[in-house]
Amino acid sequence: MEIELLAWALRLSNLAYIIAALLFILALAGLSKQTTAQRGNTFGIIGMTIAVGATILRAVAVSHAEPDTQHPALVTLLLIILALGIGAVIGVLRARRVEMTGMPELIAMLHSFVGFAAVLIGYNSFLEPQGVTPDVEVFHLAEVYLGIFIGAITFTGSIVAFLKLSGRIKGAPLMLPLRHLLNLAAIIVVVLLGVGFVLTDGHGPLAWGCLLLMTVIALLIGVHMVAAIGGGDMPVVVSMLNSYSGWAAAAAGFMLGNPLLIIVGALVGSSGAYLSYLMCKAMNRSFVSVILGGFGSDGGAVAEDTDHAPHTEITAEQTAALLKGATKVVITPGYGMAVAQAQYPVADLARTLRQAGVDVTFAIHPVAGRLPGHMNVLLAEAKVPYDIVLEMDEVNDDFAGVDVVLVIGANDTVNPIAEQPGSPIAGMPVLKVWEAKHVVVFKRSMGAGYAGVQNPLFFHENTDMLLGDAKASVDAINAAL
Ligand code: TAP
Repeated sequence: MEIELLAWALRLSNLAYIIAALLFILALAGLSKQTTAQRGNTFGIIGMTIAVGATILRAVAVSHAEPDTQHPALVTLLLIILALGIGAVIGVLRARRVEMTGMPELIAMLHSFVGFAAVLIGYNSFLEPQGVTPDVEVFHLAEVYLGIFIGAITFTGSIVAFLKLSGRIKGAPLMLPLRHLLNLAAIIVVVLLGVGFVLTDGHGPLAWGCLLLMTVIALLIGVHMVAAIGGGDMPVVVSMLNSYSGWAAAAAGFMLGNPLLIIVGALVGSSGAYLSYLMCKAMNRSFVSVILGGFGSDGGAVAEDTDHAPHTEITAEQTAALLKGATKVVITPGYGMAVAQAQYPVADLARTLRQAGVDVTFAIHPVAGRLPGHMNVLLAEAKVPYDIVLEMDEVNDDFAGVDVVLVIGANDTVNPIAEQPGSPIAGMPVLKVWEAKHVVVFKRSMGAGYAGVQNPLFFHENTDMLLGDAKASVDAINAAL
């Protein structure tokens, strides 16, 4: 009777897993376009609810069928509910409190949990291999080894990314002497330890030695890999760690024999890898160079937050007058717009100007802000029509015909120094706003942007600085208009 019940529960949960997997695929497809993103999110939420329900059913059914080796079914259920409850309370409190500008570090932190979970599952699966017969022993050991390796890199890499994104670690990227050689040596040692580990059949102190040493090396690789990356290249790291967390989850799926975790992990892993590829293309970087660390940071000094040359300032009223006389205006938002929460008055400004017959468009740099699509989310929130929000490639050759560019809290993404070989952000494509007739930069000081590089745009002849909080400045312009 119990076996029959278990068989039914497993069949039901497998069916639920297939439905959940399809919903996750639909979610990803939906998230690829702004207009369908909300629907995509809904699919994701339903899929995850089904997945969690099916996993609980599976766990309870297994413990009910095997009362000798597992907890009684009721204890299993209570333990799961307790863990879910604690996690849900922490998650809800954290998510309610997080500002949009704090999302990247929150995501980095969540990635570190996936990595840590994969490490724990790996060790657990090594200590208590369930359903592993001698003919699949080698595969099991290999998946344990690989799962712990990816998990450990994701864990420490994500923690360093969290510290960098939240501004807790600042300054120049870590440039160890012979760092590429160090990375290579670490990988060779990990491969050799892996061979040793599998050859021990997972028994004895040698197996433990190989596994523990590899874990320590993987933890160090994670720290080194992310610490060596320059500020401007962080977007690639964020998407890369996203991908790693997917592969770590897939590895955990293999160790737990959970097909849904394998599917979801592979979906996250491959979409994260594709996003990293797109990010690298947008930043004109080679993926390999970025993951080897330090690319984009060689040769350039990090600028101090000081004013090096005379600049001209403009008031909100003067900016309003300038806008009244313009026929073509481009708005390039950046991280500062998110900090100031200026998207609503910016949307009002665009509406007023459009009503007055001015041609207004938004130019979005692929890594503006701190998250892929950060600016698009903010502008959609403020109900800016999608058709006037353009990607960098769609506008970058047309700035010469623009009367006024409003740079709202953007800095690195409009920094002409990127066109100077040897500069810390050399090669990164930027919005060529300086080609316009007039540029107004909204920011609070003359300080540098995320990459820590001084921006010569601020000192150009056709640039005026509107210093102050971006929201207050745009509010004042709206009032003057
Ligand atoms: P940033 O270079 O980060 O510059 C933002 C500017 O906003 C700062 O110079 C700051 O100057 C200003 N600012 C801050 N608060 C403000 C406020 N309340 N009002 C007005 N201005 C304010 O911005 P960006 O051009 O968007 O470039 C993004 C950078 O982040 C790139 O280097 C990119 O590589 C990196 N990054 C991006 C991502 C993704 S995926 N998008 C992820 C990680 C890192 P003041 O302090 O003087 O006001």
